[in-house]
Parts: sequence; C-alpha cells; structure tokens
Amino acid sequence: MTCLVLCSASGAPGVTTSALALAWVWPQVTERRVVLIDADPSGSGLLGGALAAGFATEAGVLALAGEVHTPSAADLLAHSVALDSDAARLVLPGVSDPVQARSLAALWAALPDLAVDLHHQSTDVIVDAGRLGHAEEPTSLLGEADVVGLALTPTVPAVVASAAAVRRLAALRSPRARPVPAVVGERRPYTAREVERALAVPVAMLAFDARSAEALNAGQSLTGRWERSLLLRSVRALAATLMAGLPAGVAP
Ligand SMILES: Nc1ncnc2c1ncn2[C@@H]1O[C@H](COP(=O)(O)OP(=O)(O)O)[C@@H](O)[C@H]1O
Ligand SMILES: [Mg+2]
Repeated sequence: MTCLVLCSASGAPGVTTSALALAWVWPQVTERRVVLIDADPSGSGLLGGALAAGFATEAGVLALAGEVHTPSAADLLAHSVALDSDAARLVLPGVSDPVQARSLAALWAALPDLAVDLHHQSTDVIVDAGRLGHAEEPTSLLGEADVVGLALTPTVPAVVASAAAVRRLAALRSPRARPVPAVVGERRPYTAREVERALAVPVAMLAFDARSAEALNAGQSLTGRWERSLLLRSVRALAATLMAGLPAGVAP
C-alpha cells in the first residue's frame, strides 16, 4: 500500500472518523508508519477534536504548500504532527476554511509521487478527501490513489449518491482498482448485503459505534477497552481489506 484515499458521496457518514481510526490501527496491522493527510476542502474535521490541543503554525497543508515550491517527502513529514509518542502515526492538518483549499491543487497533484517516496521509508499515506463534488475536491488524488474507500451509511439517499460516485470514480480511476464502498453501520436501516446488491459491487463494513467514534474524535486518551471496541475491531478488518485492495465480503 502506498496511498489510500477515503471520501463520501453524501452526508457525513464518518469519513474523518474512519480515516483517523484507520491511521490509528495502521501501524498495528501493517507494522508501518502512517501519515494521515487532511485534504477535505470543506474544512478540517480533525482540528476540533484529535488536534484540539493545537499544533505549531508551521504544520499543515497550507504551510507546506505555501513555504515549499516542490515539496519532498521530508518536507511533508516536517509539516506533520505526531498523534502518538512513537510518532508511528502522523497527521498533516488540513484547511480550516474552504477558501484556503484553492491553493492546494499543486500539492495534491504532487502527492502520489511523494507517497511513493514515503512508501520506501516504510510509511503509508491515508487521505481524508471529504465529500466528493466540492469545487476544490482533490480529483487527481482520487484518480491516482492505490485504493479509494467510499464511506456511506446504508440509507436510500446515500446509496443512490454512492452508486453515482462509484461509477464516476471507476471511470476516473480506470484502469486502477475500483473504489471500495465501506458501509458504516449495518441495519441502519439496510444490511451491508442489501447495499452490496444495490451498488452491484462488493462492499466492506465498518461498525456503528458512537461512543468509540466520539472518544476518537474528541481526542480523549484511548484506553485498552477502546482498542478492543467494535469500531476498532471493524477498522482493523477494514484495514486488512483495503490493503488487499479488494473487499473481503460482507459480514453475515
Ligand atoms: N463508525 C461510527 N459509528 C458511530 N458514529 C460515527 C461513526 N463514524 C462517525 N461517527 C459520528 O458521525 C459524525 C460524523 O462523523 P465524521 O467522521 O465527522 O463524518 P464525515 O467526515 O463523513 O463528515 C460524528 O459525530 C462521529 O462521531
Ligand atoms: Mg470529515
């Protein structure tokens, strides 16, 4: 794996939460370092929670794009902040205002090459691209990433919007791997199997676990119990699925 992008087609199904949780489990599952890049043009969902304690102003996508003309992998790492004491999980914070996202197109175009360089330093890249269709959507990343995960809740409006997104992403990514829809929460109201049939592609699953999601987003200290939570267990399975590049199938 080099570069994995998460996005959504409608609503707020949990892209940021899933990206953060994936970044958390990534070193456990892969024994590799991970950089979570916040490329959501609508404004960072990480700034209020996981990064609420603040970070140096020289960190983040804006500083990286503004200070360095042709950023290297080392520049990207230098503008990231560590989420843990081992610095096995890093975050490159995103914009706080959609207007700021206008200056980032060149950075997103350069990122696939940077991800290849990072890969050689035992580091994978996870990108939170936010909702598709934003004027400053990082389209180049959606086309170039090794894997694209499309988070959705199992509701009719989300499935309809996601079906269109799957078609668009498949065309954009051809001949790369098709996007992997990730259903957040079974039976809310539909099962993953029903969504799979409606989308006509295999889907992955992510547990609905509000308490664990909230703890992660709020930047609370993460306990052993949280590590064993439904959310974390399902995210570990999702990480393995995404690494394989193909969904392993839905839960029974
Ligand atoms: N797997 C989940 N189970 C339960 N609640 C979740 C889950 N993922 C996200 N949430 C909650 O849903 C809301 C939106 O999540 P967020 O990750 O910000 O969505 P997005 O990035 O798609 O806008 C938050 O309140 C979050 O705590
Ligand atoms: Mg978000």
